[in-house]
Amino acid sequence: MSSQMSPQWWRSAVIYQVYPRSFADGNGDGVGDLAGVRNRLPYLKKLGVDALWFTPWYASPLADGGYDVSDYRAIDPLFGDLEEAERLIAEAHALGIGIIVDIVPNHISDQHVWFQEALQGKGRDRFWFVDEPVNRWISEFGGQPGNVWTQVPDGQWYLHLFDPAQPDLNWTHPEVHAEFEAVLRFWFDRGVDGIRIDSAGLLVKEPDLADYAEGQPHPFRDRDEVHDIYRRWRQIAEEYGNRAFVGEVWMPDPVRFANYLRPDELHTAFNLEFLCCAWDPEKLRQVINNTLDSHAPVGAPATWVLSNHDVTRPVTRYGREDTAFSFATKTHDTPTDLDLGTRRARAAALLMLGLPGSAYIYQGEELGLWEVEDIPADLRQDPMRLRSTGTDPGRDGCRVPLPWSGDQPPFGFSPTDVAKPWLPQPAAWKAYTVEAQTGDPHSMLELYLSALQLRRDFQDADFAWAPSEPDVLAFRRGEHLIVVNLSPNAVELPEHTEVLLTSRFLAGDRLPPDAAVWLRSGS
Ligand code: NOJ
Repeated sequence: MSSQMSPQWWRSAVIYQVYPRSFADGNGDGVGDLAGVRNRLPYLKKLGVDALWFTPWYASPLADGGYDVSDYRAIDPLFGDLEEAERLIAEAHALGIGIIVDIVPNHISDQHVWFQEALQGKGRDRFWFVDEPVNRWISEFGGQPGNVWTQVPDGQWYLHLFDPAQPDLNWTHPEVHAEFEAVLRFWFDRGVDGIRIDSAGLLVKEPDLADYAEGQPHPFRDRDEVHDIYRRWRQIAEEYGNRAFVGEVWMPDPVRFANYLRPDELHTAFNLEFLCCAWDPEKLRQVINNTLDSHAPVGAPATWVLSNHDVTRPVTRYGREDTAFSFATKTHDTPTDLDLGTRRARAAALLMLGLPGSAYIYQGEELGLWEVEDIPADLRQDPMRLRSTGTDPGRDGCRVPLPWSGDQPPFGFSPTDVAKPWLPQPAAWKAYTVEAQTGDPHSMLELYLSALQLRRDFQDADFAWAPSEPDVLAFRRGEHLIVVNLSPNAVELPEHTEVLLTSRFLAGDRLPPDAAVWLRSGS
């Protein structure tokens, strides 16, 4: 099967992230599934996205929402089966929509056959087994130093940067390389157009698993040898043609980040610095400049992303005093002004979709959904919260099933009212369903629909900053002018011939605070 996408589609694509468990439930068990996605493909087509990124849909005990994979070649029965995935890929392609799957190479599930064999004493060198914990590394899920080790019944310990249910693989082992190369081929053979690489900077460990040492490369983050893996993977993608990688690379240093995007490595990587950035004009300007400056020398397109399944939803985040995102400062019950957050999220959407490169939309972002913070403790599932013993609220609040239609839960998420959605939906979402928002000119959904359509007119145009008043971001994309007002006052619109799209109604010829506008200006 060959890819349906235009050459280099990934340079300017808008990619919609599907969290299958919470997108749409086709079989009525309260959990989203592939049948549900298939039913909703017309919605995604109408929305105007170019591709879908599916967070892991593989067989998994769901100890970490599917990032604990027990079989990379099988679909979890909760979601469907391989045949259904193949049908979904074909149907999306027929609509001109590409598919990106998520590969998790740093760790596997403790239920994966390799780890089960390791427990029996076979093939332990595919993992990091030791007689005694040899370092005090801290889990990527937070917690106490040394919490990356778990003991097995015969007394040995194994390494897991995330949950104990996610043992880390040993990337010095040739079988690990061979297996993942085969998995890439397995999905490319099924026609997928791209692959997201989970935790892409963590695969290679310091050979002795030594502790952090001042002046030494980090023992497991961004080690130079990791690039060899992606050079090999790039060759595989090239054999298939038209396929793209997107790396999940959390890397504050823009040059080290861009190293992953050299022409013989990954095509793209998530701009998580942009996602984490505060609603602050100078900080945003700096992130945009850093992004464009660091991508240019390696010839890779920038990506822009405001949210995903790991972070606080933008409507909530931007309605708080601290508008930046950081796992370290995520707390419970922070005062939040959702109206303010919504105004800013609307402006941020026009900023993101105005920038050059590709953009990611996390399901529900286009509906203006907020972080659900009152999920009862016994229904929460995220290991991040559990491992922090409750101090971290975890990531369930951005993973609540989508509202599609109707006046009460499950809001069309499930075809029947038999099973409750796996996480409870707020009653107030009745005003935020796809049905309620369709045709409402004030709705977030209509804003995204218009923006995605209009964006096509300038998605390949050059970018240049335009003069602006203080605390205002203004830039040109060919004949288009994008202006975002982060100042506390309404500002005069620059010279233009036409107002194409606004995130708030204009006050005469002035752009209100926390608002953005797309103008046609002539060049
Ligand atoms: C990043 C994923 O986005 C997150 O959801 C997951 O918990 C970790 N990687 C571990 O796989």
